[in-house]
Amino acid sequence: MPSDNAPSASPRLGLPDLPAADVAHVDVLAASADALVVNLFEGVTSPGGATGAVDAALGGAISRLLAGGDVTGKLGEVTVLYPTAGVSAPRVLITGLGRPDAFGPEAARRASAAAALRAAELGAARLATVVHGAGAGGLAPSDAAQATLEGALLASYRFGGWRAPSAGPARRLEQITLVEHDAARLPQLVEGARAAHAVGRGVAFARDLVNLPPDHATPDYLGRQAQALAERTGLRVAVHDRAWAEARGMGAFLAVAEGSSREPRFIELGHREERKDLPLVVLVGKGVTFDSGGLSLKQKDGMIPMKSDMAGAAAVLGAMLAVAELDLNVRVVALCPCVENMPDGAAFRPSDVLVAGTGLSVEVLSTDAEGRLALADALGYARSFAPAAVIDIATLTGASVVALGEGVAASLFATDPTLRARLETAADATGERVWPMPLFEEYRAAIESQIADLKNSGGAKGGVGTAAAFLQAFTAYPWAHVDMAGMALANGQKSRPYLPAGATGYGVRLLVEFLRDWA
Ligand code: BES
Ligand code: MN
Ligand code: ZN
Repeated sequence: MPSDNAPSASPRLGLPDLPAADVAHVDVLAASADALVVNLFEGVTSPGGATGAVDAALGGAISRLLAGGDVTGKLGEVTVLYPTAGVSAPRVLITGLGRPDAFGPEAARRASAAAALRAAELGAARLATVVHGAGAGGLAPSDAAQATLEGALLASYRFGGWRAPSAGPARRLEQITLVEHDAARLPQLVEGARAAHAVGRGVAFARDLVNLPPDHATPDYLGRQAQALAERTGLRVAVHDRAWAEARGMGAFLAVAEGSSREPRFIELGHREERKDLPLVVLVGKGVTFDSGGLSLKQKDGMIPMKSDMAGAAAVLGAMLAVAELDLNVRVVALCPCVENMPDGAAFRPSDVLVAGTGLSVEVLSTDAEGRLALADALGYARSFAPAAVIDIATLTGASVVALGEGVAASLFATDPTLRARLETAADATGERVWPMPLFEEYRAAIESQIADLKNSGGAKGGVGTAAAFLQAFTAYPWAHVDMAGMALANGQKSRPYLPAGATGYGVRLLVEFLRDWA
């Protein structure tokens, strides 16, 4: 019986709400908002464009701050002015864009996020902002609009959790308006804003799922969220149970579930599946709702972040939300094997031999190498769709974090150079970094078993590559693998102000950008 102080009901079940967004054809000086954001490149001595217009209306106040060195235009710098006349908005925020030679969509995103955070702190509910980078920055207006709005939306995300409303950050943006005086640009800005809003919702959805603790975000919960998502968007959905997986001989996926009292779920979503003329992309996301390590139990510190071990599945679900909202002209299937990895009397053991759905047998060396087992059966099942490309995304190995660092980049493996290049392009556009890794044959040799086709661990060395080689054995199509271990959670670093502490939603923007380009 849930008592009053027990966290019984899950908070905010359903799709997350974002600040509203729009594009207004208005002069910056006349923009009606609680705060107006303009910008400045580092090294500029006399501001131009919209910032120049505000400077003139304020009698050269910005120029004087620049001359005095109080404002520099460094990326992350936000200066607040309180105009008494000349500008409709009661506050003007000048956000730094950094050096022009280092400028791109990521700088626009960060500059916009820094300003949005500051505006929210000051209690602003309605924010008006110029589009960063569409003028001197040289970005296409739609890309600049997307980056500007995305930065502000992603920075505005908060996970409510169970804290009393008074304990949480009370101040939150309600409305973000992109202001533009040039009517000819409006259609592109609207297009960029629409993309940002869809992607922002996908990211918020993914973040919510990852932030939700593992006693709530169970495999069944993820299945119900997928169902709700499909009801809202019209995606095809099927949430398969244990019996379905048994009928397909998915012994690798099912082994992971054996030590948990929570039933596994295998989520399947589809977008435009009837369009057989379009080349099919299958997205696969690791959905381990908690990774204790199983009988190969993790150390206590290593276990703490493991509610985020379903971040790959969350990224895929968030991407599907955006794909559906944008109604992208792509044929996509999403597969998320969802399971909890726990130790108990029924748990699978080191030394067990499992048989996957493809017929490959696997000797278990470590029950903590569970992600590749769940993914093996999803990758094997993906063959039945005859895909043109399959991308899996997973918090798969601590070795990826050792190699590339925490919050720096995900490891990218691919059997197809075009697929790799397209993911790298998407990473450049979104700032969701990937770094190429090799599929050397030695990694395959390291997971050879004496008694089965494969073993599930290649030992301590080259762990990111041996895990990828394991997955590769279950593929039979152009394939890419994104090991996003270390990317799922952020600690609220200042350098990326659009990543609040907690879940990052990493992968949503990468996958959506890839699919937009694929279309
Ligand atoms: N979920 C972990 C990987 C992980 C570690 C993600 C740290 C994020 C941060 C995965 O299931 C795991 O435990 N991998 C093992 C594999 C080993 C037993 C072969 C690892 O990386 O240690
Ligand atoms: Mn593990
Ligand atoms: Zn794991």
